[in-house]
Amino acid sequence: MSNAEHHEGTRRDFLYYATAGAGAVATGAAVWPLVNQMNPSADVLALSSIRVDVSGVSEGSQITVKWLGKPVFIRRRTETEVEDARSVDLSDLPDPIARNANIEDGADATDENRALDETGEWLVQMGVCTHLGCVPLGNAGDYALDGGVGGWFCPCHGSHYDTSGRIRRGPAPENLPVPPAEFVDETTILLG
Ligand code: FES
Repeated sequence: MSNAEHHEGTRRDFLYYATAGAGAVATGAAVWPLVNQMNPSADVLALSSIRVDVSGVSEGSQITVKWLGKPVFIRRRTETEVEDARSVDLSDLPDPIARNANIEDGADATDENRALDETGEWLVQMGVCTHLGCVPLGNAGDYALDGGVGGWFCPCHGSHYDTSGRIRRGPAPENLPVPPAEFVDETTILLG
């Protein structure tokens, strides 16, 4: 099937956890069930790698997909978000490590070391707070840009992540991890 023909269909196929997240705000955000992470069912194991069509993701927005039973944020950042992420002094980062499964262990947490592509337009990261596993909210927190663009906030205990998904304030000890990911064509990201 061609992308053009089935564009709408594939968009509908995404799992919009971000939308569900809006409901979670009212209840104080949901804890992602740990038991599901520890005991992936057979159907989950079968999806150890998935392809995500990102042709419908506009600049400045993100989708959330489920991979290995956990949410993954795929964000198409604006130039301003990228500039902000790349202007940060590394000495200001509580966690100085990139946490990117696609590059060498222990690499610096520069935005260049976390983004999926060279321009930094695409950022892919686990949507699991590194404190106790809640799902952070997008376009939120002290490190969102003016107008509430970019950044993530975990309301469970108040962890603020910047426009690169790096922890900046609050109890979370580490940056949001970047899972194995790559573009396999212009509009498809392979996770896993
Ligand atoms: S789980 Fe996110 S701040 Fe505690």
